[in-house]
Amino acid sequence: MASHFVLSTGAKIPSVGLGTWQSEPGVVGDAVYAAVKAGYRHIDCAQVYGNEKEIGFALKKVFDEGITSRQDLFITSKLWCTNHAPEDVPVALDGTLQDLQTDYVDLYLVHWPIRMKKGAGFSPENVIPADIPATWAAMEGLYDSGKARAIGVSNFSCKKLEELLAAARVPPAANQVECHPVWQQAKLRDLCASKGIHFSVRSCLFMRMQAYSPLGSPGTFKAFSVLEHPVVVSAAEKLGKTPAQVALRWGIQAGHSVLPKSTHEERIRANFDVFDWSIPSDLFASFSEIEQTRLIRGKFWTHPEGVFKSEEEIWDGEI
Ligand code: A2P
Repeated sequence: MASHFVLSTGAKIPSVGLGTWQSEPGVVGDAVYAAVKAGYRHIDCAQVYGNEKEIGFALKKVFDEGITSRQDLFITSKLWCTNHAPEDVPVALDGTLQDLQTDYVDLYLVHWPIRMKKGAGFSPENVIPADIPATWAAMEGLYDSGKARAIGVSNFSCKKLEELLAAARVPPAANQVECHPVWQQAKLRDLCASKGIHFSVRSCLFMRMQAYSPLGSPGTFKAFSVLEHPVVVSAAEKLGKTPAQVALRWGIQAGHSVLPKSTHEERIRANFDVFDWSIPSDLFASFSEIEQTRLIRGKFWTHPEGVFKSEEEIWDGEI
């Protein structure tokens, strides 16, 4: 199984990346350093995670020590919702580049199809109507400038993705979404694949789905554990692997890159040990029987008088 996939731009995206959401300042730098030392060549960041500066210092260290080079590392970051105004988009990326101590990101994503007032704090009352085509045109400018080697989106439903595709000059190269054995995103996966084939014939678009929360974020959703799901546990026992490794390997075999977050070196290493074995097809097929549950439902964006009144509105009913 390939240790990378290929984006519509032709760039290789490593199939396992280190997630940094909820990686606390003070430990995230060490996590990035440990990951690169362990062989990771893909780091998933976002301005709103509040830790890009520390990641930048860790990256400088790995480059200074010759562990890898900038061109061999795939770095993703994301435009936060308060910076959707077209004039704010390049400023936001410049801030991220400065923090990460680099001249470009390999992939820059619109973090949510949701806009908040400029400079506003995180509250559903600060959500204002988005103008995705206008924001996307500014993202295209970043792509043209070379500061973002590829552009994409995150948390887009099938409906929002199709609307964007209809308006885009540069089609999104990736849609980063929640994905794990308990929320497999069959419809979105099919859409990405179908659009990929369609556009690769016409204009070489190949949309790739990335997975955030590939382990089901066990620390966040304490009442629900992907890693304790009987199908995952049983596959792990049969294969002599951990449930986390099985969940990650399932993702790679399903055809998308996975971005497990950990700040523990042992887990960071274990989560990368997913390449020299595979889930046999009969066992892989058993994952399709798992009852599906979206964990990240976006309730935090909803408000009775707000732009989004329900979770259904955020995901266009794809919930
Ligand atoms: P920690 O950072 O303390 O290792 P996701 O990437 O799906 O959001 O999951 C991240 C969560 O899963 C974090 O709480 C992380 O904790 C935990 N985690 C990461 N790797 C493993 C693993 N191999 N086994 C169990 N939990 C893990």
